[in-house]
Amino acid sequence: MELTQPISVQRVQQSRLQEVDFSNLGFGTYVADHMLVCDYKQGEWQAPAIMPFGNLTLSPTSLALHYGQTVFEGMKAFRMQDGRINLFRVHKHHERLSRSLDRMAMAIVPEDVFVEGLRQLISLDKDWIPTAPGTALYIRPFAYASEAKFGVKVSDEYKFVIFSGPVAAAFQKPLRVRVETQYVRAARGGTGAAKCGGNYGGAFYPTTKAKEAGYDQVLWTDAKENKYIEESGMMNAVFVIDGTVVTPPLSDSILDGVTRDSLLTVARDLGIPVEERLVSIEELEKAFRQHTITEAFGAGTAAIVAPIGTICIHDIDYQLPAYDAQAIMFRLRDQLEAIRTGQAADKHHWNYVL
Ligand code: COI
Repeated sequence: MELTQPISVQRVQQSRLQEVDFSNLGFGTYVADHMLVCDYKQGEWQAPAIMPFGNLTLSPTSLALHYGQTVFEGMKAFRMQDGRINLFRVHKHHERLSRSLDRMAMAIVPEDVFVEGLRQLISLDKDWIPTAPGTALYIRPFAYASEAKFGVKVSDEYKFVIFSGPVAAAFQKPLRVRVETQYVRAARGGTGAAKCGGNYGGAFYPTTKAKEAGYDQVLWTDAKENKYIEESGMMNAVFVIDGTVVTPPLSDSILDGVTRDSLLTVARDLGIPVEERLVSIEELEKAFRQHTITEAFGAGTAAIVAPIGTICIHDIDYQLPAYDAQAIMFRLRDQLEAIRTGQAADKHHWNYVL
């Protein structure tokens, strides 16, 4: 891909790769050697630069710090079976980043800066991509309002940054989640569909309350009636009821999860029925009473599939049956993994292979 302005590259003098314990990666512990930085000023994106990962300097008056114009993405690079590198669904991530930036009135990062920037950055840090099943190089592109001016305004300057780090899949132990009916994550017309920092910061307090009560995360309900399930913690919420994969439909209060979309597509490909429709708390209660709900999980890039073991509804803990390898969620996850590593056909053209 030809960029109008080429990317300058400054390499690290000494890699930190040997500090990584690949047998115990965790999530968010390690950061790869390089990052990409690109500034938006005077109505234009400037030349991107790849440089050693390090601190950014910013003025205390930077608009992002005060009014919250910040947006991020979460995506993964995988090592394929034949050794090549796969940047999974790179164009879909750019599409969603653009929608998030647009909702937050921020400058859109050009697709060629995003794709070519990732290509060069991840090629440079390719040795950081772990190979064990379930692991990946997690990539965090993000942008923030960098204009130094504390007057309340839409920023005229932005910084776009990409860094990455090797991770194990997050949230693998079955989660205990509590249906939240007091606090909400997002309302119709709000920013829930944008991957903006405020959605996550605003979720911390209710999540902390749920943790104090012995739960890992909350199952968010709609802001109008607190009746319908929206998301599960920081992930999309998915249930298996009567053998059908059921998940709330996308709306402006639900994030358009790339993993959600991938798992639903894989399910359809495997002939497993899928319904994107409203799921009420009442329906879940009934499904537990009638034993028709067999699985519940969060779907997100970090976890891929995060099994849910317990759902607390109106102070009653409902248990999901124990999961074995035949669970639909694991079949979907494994099929996705097979596509990403090149063991199964990539018929939807999701793999961007370097
Ligand atoms: C993801 O699942 O990738 C997310 O973005 C959630 C979290 C790590 C912030």
